[in-house]
Amino acid sequence: MIQLLSYIYPVTKKIRSEISGDLEITWYNGKKHLNTKNANYSYGSLQKILKIGLQKIDLSQCKNILVLGMGGGSVIKTLQEDFNYKNTITAVDIDPIIIDIAKEEFNVSKTNELQIICADALKFMQQNSKQFDLVIIDLFVDTEIPNSFFSTSFWQDIMKAVAINGTILFNASLHKTDNDKLSDIILLLKKNNYTIEKIEKVDQTNTLLIAKLFRCIES
Ligand SMILES: C[S@@+](CC[C@H](N)C(=O)[O-])C[C@H]1O[C@@H](n2cnc3c(N)ncnc32)[C@H](O)[C@@H]1O
Repeated sequence: MIQLLSYIYPVTKKIRSEISGDLEITWYNGKKHLNTKNANYSYGSLQKILKIGLQKIDLSQCKNILVLGMGGGSVIKTLQEDFNYKNTITAVDIDPIIIDIAKEEFNVSKTNELQIICADALKFMQQNSKQFDLVIIDLFVDTEIPNSFFSTSFWQDIMKAVAINGTILFNASLHKTDNDKLSDIILLLKKNNYTIEKIEKVDQTNTLLIAKLFRCIES
C-alpha cells in the first residue's frame, strides 16, 4: 500500500540518530530511500553515483571489498545484484542506528560473505592489517565529509590496505571547497604509483575519484 501511495506523494518515516541527526526513510515512486536532512544517503542518487564508479572497475578480479560508510547498504546491493559480486565484503559504519535501519528497512544483514562492523572508519583503518582488492570510501555526515578523511595519515592507512593491483573508489565531495584537499590526496596517490581518474559532477553533484594501484612484484 505504502509502495503504491508513494507514486502519488512521498511517504516518510523519521528516525532520530545522535550521530547523523534526523534520518528519513522515504518511499518515493515505489522505491525506499535513506536520507538525512540535506542529503540522500542510500538508494537514490547516491546509489546511481557509486554505480557509475563501479562500472569503471574490473570486479572480476575482486576477492574482497572494504566499504567505509555502509549507510543503508545500497552499494552492497549494487555489487551483489547488478554486478553479481559473490565474494566477501567488509562494511564499516559509525552509526548503530543506521546499521539497524540497513538491517530492518533494507534487508542488509550479516552473512558469510558480508561482515558488518560498527566503528569509526578512522580508528578501524588505524588498526586494520588486512588488504582488499577494492576499497570504497563513502563517508559523509549529512552533506559533509569529515576533515579527518582528507588527512594524509588516513590515506596512508588506506594505501596500506590496498592489495596489489587493487583500486580505491572515493565518493569525494559535494562541495567545491573540498577541491584543494582533494588535490593533495591525488598528489599523494600519484607519488605512490596510483593512476587517477577524477570524474566531476556525477549525476550533476558529486566528484568521484578512482585510484588504481600498479605495484610491480619484485623478482
Ligand atoms: C552516504 S552514507 C553511505 C552510503 C552507502 N555507501 C550506501 O551505499 O548506501 C555515509 C555514511 O558514512 C557514515 N559515516 C560518517 N562518518 C563516519 C565515520 N567516522 N566512520 C564510519 N562511518 C561514518 C555515516 O554514518 C553514513 O552511514
